[in-house]
Amino acid sequence: MSLNLAKRMSVVQASPIIKVANAARELKAKGENVLSLSIGVPGFLPPKHVYDAAKAAVDADNGDYLAGRGSPELVKAFVASMRQRGFDYAENEVCAQVGGKGALFNLLLALVDEGDEVVVPAPYWASYPEMVKIVGGVPVMPAADAAHGYKLSAEQLAAALTPKTKIVLFNNPSNPTGMLYTADEVAAIGAVLAQRPDVWVISDDIYDMLVFDGGADGKGGRAAQLLDKHPELKQRLIVVQSVSKTYGMPGWRVGMVAAPKVVIDSLLTLTSQSFTNLPAVPMAAAAAALSGPQEFLETQRTRLVKQRDETLVALAAMKLPCPKPEGAFYVFPQIKGLFGKTSAGGRKIADDVAFCEALLAEEKVACVPGGAFGDAGAIRMSYAGKAVELTEALGRVGRFVMGMK
Ligand SMILES: Cc1ncc(COP(=O)(O)O)c(C=O)c1O
Repeated sequence: MSLNLAKRMSVVQASPIIKVANAARELKAKGENVLSLSIGVPGFLPPKHVYDAAKAAVDADNGDYLAGRGSPELVKAFVASMRQRGFDYAENEVCAQVGGKGALFNLLLALVDEGDEVVVPAPYWASYPEMVKIVGGVPVMPAADAAHGYKLSAEQLAAALTPKTKIVLFNNPSNPTGMLYTADEVAAIGAVLAQRPDVWVISDDIYDMLVFDGGADGKGGRAAQLLDKHPELKQRLIVVQSVSKTYGMPGWRVGMVAAPKVVIDSLLTLTSQSFTNLPAVPMAAAAAALSGPQEFLETQRTRLVKQRDETLVALAAMKLPCPKPEGAFYVFPQIKGLFGKTSAGGRKIADDVAFCEALLAEEKVACVPGGAFGDAGAIRMSYAGKAVELTEALGRVGRFVMGMK
């Protein structure tokens, strides 16, 4: 017998986003002046009361194992934040997980059998199809591409459903495009889902409070959600939330799930056999973030809109077509028109990967190749970082693109 890895590892690729972010970090550690537009960091720190709660949790800590569902404070704060969104969940219908990412991973583990299909509209967040493959499922990826305004239509969804469909994954606003579905579009998607009572729906709502331009035509300044017009979906709808993006806390790794009790119980079973519980300090911080004053959010939205607009102006000057994001904090410009050209540093730009490698090598700016999100004609840039760094990075990308022959 040889020392093989499990067969499932042959179908999984490491997250290209994390790969690019690591490459940028390594270059930075070597003293290079690298600017990262790669990983989705929100670019601000959480409010002071979050740190105060974290410090108090350190002082109060007794080193014990904790509840797998999450601390009572976190559970209560999350239930209240779902209520503010207009949805009632009991405490036994929610639980904490290791980030939204850990939540999605465990949900797929709990729900997908070998060969089950999971509908993932493309472009998609890079981890969705890989996670589906890890658990033995088959990602089905209808093209919510430029021709469709980067949104999945109700007709496309209906066509993607087969007898093997187990889950539909919905992400609004979307990473990587920042597209925001209107209330009517969400309702139309919901109407199709309502016809398939045998299908679970995972709504990845981690950017639902980061919506711009008055585009939040749901309740309370948030994105429209499936339950707004289709409350009948609640018995099979699974909501994934996270403090990472909204509260500037990606490194604290606190995600939350609201779902029917049977799903939450399955997550708790997995949790009891895997990570047991989230650490006390991040949970206290997350509870404070969810239950504390939310005014800072408006400041962040205003900042993000300003940075989005600056980014769109810069991309237009580079003649790179790009859909206008109405939420989250990414742009997804098309770079196909540059394929076949040569960079100022003499590198052939054959595809999205070559573009990102040359950009990092020559201008020290990290972006993620669009192929990671299901569209190899694009790149993804996160514009949420510090304003001065964004301006500098956009200047460098402009020089890189304009310098091509
Ligand atoms: C669409 C989407 N879902 C989930 C996640 C996971 O976020 P976290 O694990 O930090 O909560 C991300 C992170 O980038 C994301 O973009």
